[in-house]
Amino acid sequence: MRVGVLTGGGDCPGLNAVIRAVVRKGVQEYGLEFVGFRDGWRGPLEGDTVPLDVQAVRGILPRGGTILGSSRTNPLKNPGGGRNGIERIKDNLAGLGVDALIAIGGEDTLGVATRLGEQGVPVVGVPKTIDNDLSATDYTFGFDTAVNIAMEAIDRLHTTAESHHRALIVEVMGRHAGWIALHAGLAGGANVILIPERPFDIERVCAYVQHRFQTRFAPIVVVAEGAHPVSEDLATAGEQLDSFGHVRLGGVGQLLADEIEKRTGKEARCTVLGHIQRGGTPTAFDRVLATRFGVHAVQAVHDEAFGVMVALRGTDIIRVPLVEATSQLKLVPPQRYAEAEVFFG
Ligand code: F6P
Repeated sequence: MRVGVLTGGGDCPGLNAVIRAVVRKGVQEYGLEFVGFRDGWRGPLEGDTVPLDVQAVRGILPRGGTILGSSRTNPLKNPGGGRNGIERIKDNLAGLGVDALIAIGGEDTLGVATRLGEQGVPVVGVPKTIDNDLSATDYTFGFDTAVNIAMEAIDRLHTTAESHHRALIVEVMGRHAGWIALHAGLAGGANVILIPERPFDIERVCAYVQHRFQTRFAPIVVVAEGAHPVSEDLATAGEQLDSFGHVRLGGVGQLLADEIEKRTGKEARCTVLGHIQRGGTPTAFDRVLATRFGVHAVQAVHDEAFGVMVALRGTDIIRVPLVEATSQLKLVPPQRYAEAEVFFG
């Protein structure tokens, strides 16, 4: 059996650990052959491949990024015009003698995998996103690394904020879900955490900031890039769209800094962590989770259990229908946010 592997969407620490586990177990235990597709769905769409054997995956466990490359190419949009993207992929897989696909990605990449599965392509999904917002799995790898990077940044910002009696705003990733902000903010002892699920009241944020200034400590506000104010006058959003139609976010941190400075008279500065959260070596938690996902994904291929995604449920890795994987985003529930609110101000 010849199995194609691809990584799509925003990269994330642990992708290489999945690829390594898939190839090592697939070759050693099942005698499978592998082919890597470059840059997410662009690879199968254009028939762009890279050799993928045990030698190719040596030494990649601790490396961030993905040796296969990634992109947000969306074959459902028929890039290149003309023929249907799904048909082109099917033809290329047949031409390359690829019998099954392992697609490692988030909501968008797995959405395409679901469509391909419905059209008869044998596909197994592996959930990936630093945002941790896929509802069918308790955790995605990459999230723990991103949270630890953000936590370390917050720890460092505390001391400089105190020295200068400034408010520091830390903008972290999180398009629809505030998991990174919530966990990094809790772990880093932030004074306010703002998430997309709960529109914020700028007056209330300023009250927390003022309150904090009355102590010898300085306020740290952690804001997810997708968070937005209740009042539309303050709304912010990028204008560029990617091929899945997502707005490129960014700017809410600076908006907050400007408003806080204006309303409190205190100096406020913004730090945008951006792609630092996605780069570099994965934590032990993410390496283990990614490795287990890889082992179970290739097992599913061997069992010919297609149309599924591997998922973490408690401490077990299970298989869930791919369609379930992308049907609903996992948002921060109000009670989880309430636990953090105790520490605001
Ligand atoms: O989906 C993961 C993610 O890191 C989001 O948190 C963020 O909004 C987006 O990707 C950024 O994507 P890009 O790197 O393409 O700008």
